[in-house]
Amino acid sequence: MPALSFYELRLRARGVTLTLRIHPEKMFVPNLVSLLSAAVMRVEPGDIFCDVCSGSGLHAIMAAKLGARQAYGVDVNPVAVEFARLNARLNGVGDRCRFFEGDLVAPLAQKKIKADCLTFTGPQCPSAYADRPIAPELRTAVNGGPDGSAVNVRFVREVKTVLAEGGRFYQPTAAWARPSSSLLALREEGYAFRPVFRTSVPVWGRGNNSRDWFLRHPGSRRLAFDHPEQAAGRTRILEARRPSAGRRFAPLSGESRQRFIEVDFNVRRAAAADGRRKKV
Ligand SMILES: C[S@@+](CC[C@H](N)C(=O)[O-])C[C@H]1O[C@@H](n2cnc3c(N)ncnc32)[C@H](O)[C@@H]1O
Repeated sequence: MPALSFYELRLRARGVTLTLRIHPEKMFVPNLVSLLSAAVMRVEPGDIFCDVCSGSGLHAIMAAKLGARQAYGVDVNPVAVEFARLNARLNGVGDRCRFFEGDLVAPLAQKKIKADCLTFTGPQCPSAYADRPIAPELRTAVNGGPDGSAVNVRFVREVKTVLAEGGRFYQPTAAWARPSSSLLALREEGYAFRPVFRTSVPVWGRGNNSRDWFLRHPGSRRLAFDHPEQAAGRTRILEARRPSAGRRFAPLSGESRQRFIEVDFNVRRAAAADGRRKKV
């Protein structure tokens, strides 16, 4: 059996180092928004964490490393689910991460899982862009419907079934994915929400793909996300929760207020000895 090539992406943020293996053609390569979400989400020790649209497992694995009691991930792409399981094990948190194949929150609801903290990084590209000649798995990974907001909005309508009392979720809203639709859905569903980070990360396409970014700049690099306090950044990370009695948003941490969040990582190609069709 020929060895499978895969990308190995190493990133370090918030005192945590992760190594992620990624199938080069059949699953989503974390983009700059993915990295930003991982750098911004607040995970409390002991949380039950859910990663909806989990891809490589980046957010679930990061959450487990940051102290989540249990992290769950869901992705519709079986290749991504397989690699996420492998990645959890590679990072020493295989016992606290479980990944399911399925549609948005459905597998979590079926198992009656309730999240204290949840991250959603679903497809946000308008279909016209996603309809480029790319593998079907990748089209699903990026296709957010006619204006880019369809999956975001569906997620907002469905997430309540898997949120614990007082639970919170993080959701990027990109300027190109009609954020007003997501915000309207959040209001209609009765969520309190606020942006916890704004940034002018490059728009979708090659500029936003971290693999391309780092292949253009070989070697380990430090990537700084700006946090323009006043400017309307192109991408916002929203934190949302149900406004239950007497509970307010936690104050933004010093880290969230910093002008820069830095992510340090490295991309290379490697031959997989154990990455192919291996159940973990
Ligand atoms: C933009 S990628 C993000 C992946 C990963 N969270 C990250 O940040 O690197 C979107 C992911 O959502 C998955 N996806 C798309 N539609 C889905 C759905 N209806 N239910 C579950 N996963 C879905 C795709 O397969 C893809 O892995």
